Amino acid sequence: MRGRGLILGIESSCDETAAAVVQRGSRTLSSVVASQIATHARYGGVVPELASREHLRAIVPVARAALAQAGITLDDLDAIAVTSGPGLAGALLVGITYAKALAFAQGLPLIAVNHLEGHIHAVLLQEREYASLASHWADQPDSASVPCQGTTSVVPQTPSEEAVALAPEGLPRLSANPALSSSLNPLSTPQGTGRGPSFPPDAESALALVVSGGHTHLYLCRPAGGSWHYTLIGRTLDDAAGEAYDKVAKLLGLGYPGGPWIDALARFGNPLAVPFAFSQIKTKLHLAGKAPRTKAARTAPIAGLDPHFLFSFSGIKTAVLRYVELHNLRPESEARAARLFPPPQEMGAPSIPPPLAEWVGDHESLSVQALCQGTTSVVPEMLQREDRASAPAGTVPPTTHAEALALCPQPTLDLIASFQHAVVGDLMKKTFAAAESLGARRILVTGGVAANRELRARFTAEAARRGLSVAFPTPALSTDNAAMIAAAAWPRFQAGEFAAQSLSADPSLALGN
Ligand code: KG4
Ligand code: ZN
Repeated sequence: MRGRGLILGIESSCDETAAAVVQRGSRTLSSVVASQIATHARYGGVVPELASREHLRAIVPVARAALAQAGITLDDLDAIAVTSGPGLAGALLVGITYAKALAFAQGLPLIAVNHLEGHIHAVLLQEREYASLASHWADQPDSASVPCQGTTSVVPQTPSEEAVALAPEGLPRLSANPALSSSLNPLSTPQGTGRGPSFPPDAESALALVVSGGHTHLYLCRPAGGSWHYTLIGRTLDDAAGEAYDKVAKLLGLGYPGGPWIDALARFGNPLAVPFAFSQIKTKLHLAGKAPRTKAARTAPIAGLDPHFLFSFSGIKTAVLRYVELHNLRPESEARAARLFPPPQEMGAPSIPPPLAEWVGDHESLSVQALCQGTTSVVPEMLQREDRASAPAGTVPPTTHAEALALCPQPTLDLIASFQHAVVGDLMKKTFAAAESLGARRILVTGGVAANRELRARFTAEAARRGLSVAFPTPALSTDNAAMIAAAAWPRFQAGEFAAQSLSADPSLALGN
């Protein structure tokens, strides 16, 4: 039955194949993510050709799983939304082609969504869901279990281990529900008293920091007639923050993606041991005709941006490299990598992927692992066999984490902690400076790096000190997913902004002006 505002979102811009069903941009019925981490981990980064191949293998079962978990069929959908950029061209094309075919066959409108706008809507979606949960609790104060983020599943009475592990320090607790009082509350406001945080209305402007493997961008987001208007305030000139995490982790013999590894190990080191510093960026050099060096830097022009809100993470990456050379840490890093990631053959894993039939058959045959917050990660058996270091995005399996800790001498842990402390400090400094300069009282932090515990704790504390509100998606929705794409599509659906069947991928698609 159509007309219930159900949008199927499809996301395939990088190394996660994702599909989700979201109702009216405010209720997640299902969210399924197939991670390719195991495929790319052995190369220490995403291999575009392999990413496209894996998307092709995963897209059908993932979309079927999203529909099945939402308890609906294609006939119930009102629109298909798909990421059209930025991202890897071949990877984007898989999702776009599949979405176009579905839309055509079902006679449904197709909605193109910018991946960065999707990340921003991950927070907005969860704000709406929490607002509705908050009013639910207000009506039923003694309720033992409540709908999980509007999904068909139910939040367990005690928080999951992952939820507890990811709970940021100092986050205001919601009192009514023990499950949500762990990490599941992504919101923080200085006014958060009594039953929990207050929820800013959608009508309020916000400063959004999108911080991921491909982007470190600051946007001023203003409500505009039921939709949103975005103005670029700052961005990285070279590496994205997540890219720096990935490269430093690789250098230190840790796993891919690097963020979760560094996140897990940093708390065992002294963050002040190595004094990394970020110097003030001088835009003149770049404006004098120097071409941007990375994809992230190419997605938007820098002319006219305040240099105080520009980021650069290639310097700290080089500083870590110098530190490693100077202190002769390479042999230690190589030995660590060899212990943590022995070649696949030694683990008895297949060197070639299993037959396609294993993948695209009935999705019930896939091993489905539920993450917190109603986001479900499809972890095919092949991934689990191929690489024991594989884990849902944003997490590191506890065994390998403990192994890595045992393999890291204290000076290495201090280096890791100092790197993270410096990166988070720089993100904070520029974000809060931009908020102050723009008079923004509401900050949204999203993208894979927003899953970082130190980042969440320090942003939360600083916002409270300044009397501002800050919100993050749950860790599961911080990294790439399709619920954010379906949510971002809702205002476009209402406005009738549909894409033509000629829609193509735009790897450098910019957001706003
Ligand atoms: O948003 P995302 O899933 O994909 C992109 O759009 O790039 O972000 C992936 C990035 C990776 O660089 C990964 O290392 C980083 O997010 N990341 C983290 C954490 N979890 C993922 N960085 C720091 N701490 C984390 N816990
Ligand atoms: Zn992303």
